[in-house]
Amino acid sequence: MKIIMLGAPGAGKGTQAQRIAKDYGIPHISTGDIFRKNLKEETPLGLEAKTYMDRGALVPDDLTIRMLLARIGEADCRNGYVLDGFPRTVPQAEKLTEVLAQTGDKVDFALDVTVPDEDIVERMSGRRSCPGCGRTYHIVYAAPQKEGVCDSCGAALVLRADDAPETVLKRLAVYHEQTEPLIAYYEGQGVLRRIDGTVSMEDVYAQIVALLGEPAEA
Ligand code: AP5
Repeated sequence: MKIIMLGAPGAGKGTQAQRIAKDYGIPHISTGDIFRKNLKEETPLGLEAKTYMDRGALVPDDLTIRMLLARIGEADCRNGYVLDGFPRTVPQAEKLTEVLAQTGDKVDFALDVTVPDEDIVERMSGRRSCPGCGRTYHIVYAAPQKEGVCDSCGAALVLRADDAPETVLKRLAVYHEQTEPLIAYYEGQGVLRRIDGTVSMEDVYAQIVALLGEPAEA
């Protein structure tokens, strides 16, 4: 099963994608996480991506597409994946469609998690992320068992550099301009499904399971 998570920054794409990956046994591929991992390791890719991420802009398509295509070509992607943060522009979506079509394949579901802009800034300021394993928390809605420490790997949680309110507003503007057109793109392919992202994380996930079907080992 090949799933794409659409939605504004902070809509809950990562939160839901992590759970889908675990329950449906497919890898969770977040382009943002891959960029952040490269940045932490100070690779040339990470250092280049940082110059865009820090100001809330998108990393150029050619770089992002190359990186993503390499990742979905790996062995663990044979039975599908959940893409979180890709595609984010129409050229990225068109390239993915083209590459999948080469093997007679296509995206199965594009899940658009909708949350109004007003709610986003509050969610982002409360988000805490694990730089070790990538797990995401919220200080009110999804707090770790021990404050500031990842439940999964024990690393110290951090506030992402691009979650400062002024950068979040810029990311929202970029989303509306460059990513929102993908809703119509996937609607045209007949795979768009809308998810109400304003309800609790559990209720968001229940909507997703109703669409995807119960996982085999739920
Ligand atoms: P990326 O890491 O992809 O960030 P994003 O899309 O802006 O999304 P976020 O990770 O911020 O939010 P999310 O929707 O995953 O929300 P989350 O589940 O964490 O990208 C970062 C940057 O990398 C980009 O700006 C760009 O520069 C670059 N980049 C990445 N991909 C690219 C691409 N394809 N092309 C070009 N550049 C690219 O939830 C948010 C918070 O809310 C959490 O604290 C969570 O606990 C909480 N929460 C979640 N659901 C709920 C709920 N239902 N109720 C209450 N709280 C909730």
